Amino acid sequence: MESVTLDFFAEPILALESSCDETSAAVIRGREIRSNIVSSQAELHRQWGGVVPEAAARAHVEAILPVIDRALETASMKLTDIRAIAATNRPGLVGALSVGVTAAKALAFARRLPLLGVHHLEGHILSTLAKSDVPFPHTCLVVSGGHTELVRVIAPAHYEIVGQTLDDAAGEAFDKGARLLGLGYPGGFAIQEAAKGGDPSRYPLPRGLSGETANFSFSGLKTAMLRLVESEGDAIDVRDAAASLQEAIVSVLADRAVAAAIREESRALTLVGGVAANLALRARILRLCEREDIAFFTPDPNLCTDNAAMIGIAASLRFARGERDDFDLDVVANAPLPCML
Ligand code: KG4
Ligand code: ZN
Repeated sequence: MESVTLDFFAEPILALESSCDETSAAVIRGREIRSNIVSSQAELHRQWGGVVPEAAARAHVEAILPVIDRALETASMKLTDIRAIAATNRPGLVGALSVGVTAAKALAFARRLPLLGVHHLEGHILSTLAKSDVPFPHTCLVVSGGHTELVRVIAPAHYEIVGQTLDDAAGEAFDKGARLLGLGYPGGFAIQEAAKGGDPSRYPLPRGLSGETANFSFSGLKTAMLRLVESEGDAIDVRDAAASLQEAIVSVLADRAVAAAIREESRALTLVGGVAANLALRARILRLCEREDIAFFTPDPNLCTDNAAMIGIAASLRFARGERDDFDLDVVANAPLPCML
């Protein structure tokens, strides 16, 4: 395998992310994150127990300009210092995506700057490059509220999906479990905290697909959690139930990711996406990787959950290759990973 050289765009890029319930703006230079401002709508959506698309779009409209101002200010830059503009344009909630993309177009038009739409998952996948020289090819576990994918990363822009969820995403399993246990929204962090000191073997829960597979299934786990909560009623031990749920999700994710890395003869395993912030998951994959002598990389938790810095890193690599989009750049709800294979 020939080595992969990473060329980053040398000038400051303003990157925007608004695909779901976080409004974010970041300034990136090369691969250096000069600022990364995230305004979360979690508080707003808590009352509904999940993201309401229309409410998300309106909240992005309110947040986007102040968030851009803060990103520039934190980077000690003015808009006139920025040389390129990027925004997540797919996949995601179309109303939410439109806010970031429209702002990016307006800024690019007014300042006559190059514009680029970035695939949200590519942002997550390349987020590890901000701090580390991750060797290629590597295997990447992308786990978020909307995605659970095992990706072979041959080089930036060269991806191959080697496994994925057949139903719910891992983040959804955390969120739905948390809702059933009355732990609120978003559920992943709440489950992690409630699980501390809990007994993960107290309540046996299903692990989804059996046998050798790189795919995942979490819908049976959701049903089992519902039955558990119904059958135990007030007698349920929330800490033990949270620990059992976390163990069921984390063990499957970690075992399959490491197995895929071994099978693919990857030089490293990376863990990205919102669920990658989970401390139990990070610890378990690290332990398995150490045992198998596989290098393991995962971003700081604030780069795991949705943020514009990861979009800026992906854009930096694409701008450096001369890629640009026109002003007819569209937003897309569902879109495959861009792959140059
Ligand atoms: O990547 P992300 O911010 O948004 C999507 O692209 O979906 O991921 C959000 C998901 C939510 O399901 C949330 O519960 C989960 O990441 N999450 C966690 C943790 N922090 C966030 N799950 C488990 N443990 C955590 N500490
Ligand atoms: Zn995400």
